[in-house]
Amino acid sequence: MAEDGARPAPVPGHAAIIMDGNGRWARQRGLPREAGHREGARSVRDIVRACREWGVRALTLYAFSWQNWDRPSAEVEALMGLLAEFLADEREEILTNQIRLHAIGRLHRIPAPVRTLLDALMAESAGNQGMILTLALSYGGRESIVDAVNHRLASGFRHDTPAPVTEEELTGLLPTGILPPVDLVIRTSGELRVSNFLLWECAYAEFFFTPTLWPDFRRAELRAVFEDFSGRQRRYGQVSPPSR
Ligand code: IPE
Ligand code: IPE
Ligand code: MG
Repeated sequence: MAEDGARPAPVPGHAAIIMDGNGRWARQRGLPREAGHREGARSVRDIVRACREWGVRALTLYAFSWQNWDRPSAEVEALMGLLAEFLADEREEILTNQIRLHAIGRLHRIPAPVRTLLDALMAESAGNQGMILTLALSYGGRESIVDAVNHRLASGFRHDTPAPVTEEELTGLLPTGILPPVDLVIRTSGELRVSNFLLWECAYAEFFFTPTLWPDFRRAELRAVFEDFSGRQRRYGQVSPPSR
């Protein structure tokens, strides 16, 4: 196996990760859940760096779901605090590495001080061409589709007979519309479900499930996942090419 710094080939154009298992990581060590989230933030840093080094065009991280707002308020506050820390600590790294920060989700619910940091870094990095790092925050796949449809309906009121919506138009109306198609979705922690992540966008994505808890998921395992991905054949409903 190559060194961790070397680029695995070929890498997915757009990788998306359901970063799960922080709470169990902490519980296994007799620590509060927040300690798991803090260690998970270290994995985020390592995975973002590796993806940038290896030439991934787009990386989307499921950091906080719309449904996660229903967790105990102390845990929600800890997660928002960690998000603020991440944005402040990674600002320079993001800017010097030409990473463009993007966010998807119902961001209006993010506390104002965190939202200010997020908006500032998105604006500062908007022209960067290296990799798009998308944070799914306050995000739900169903909510995202509902919001896009309602937006379309509201604009349709200006016309007597609104044109029927097309697949391309809805794709573009979603906040992921600026991203390339999702090639690979990874979920850590052994759960075999999608938990409301990128429901529309995953139509032809490949999936990889690993039992590793997110705080233990680092670039060496990501390399192995990418190697597995590179050997898959995607058919998009067509037939396999004839074997020779
Ligand atoms: C993922 O870890 C982080 C978020 C969902 C915010 P969890 O907090 O869900 O960890 P588990 O699933 O309880 O182990
Ligand atoms: C999905 O994990 C959300 C994030 C990773 C941010 P959850 O832990 O919230 O999902 P469920 O509850 O196991 O489906
Ligand atoms: Mg979980």
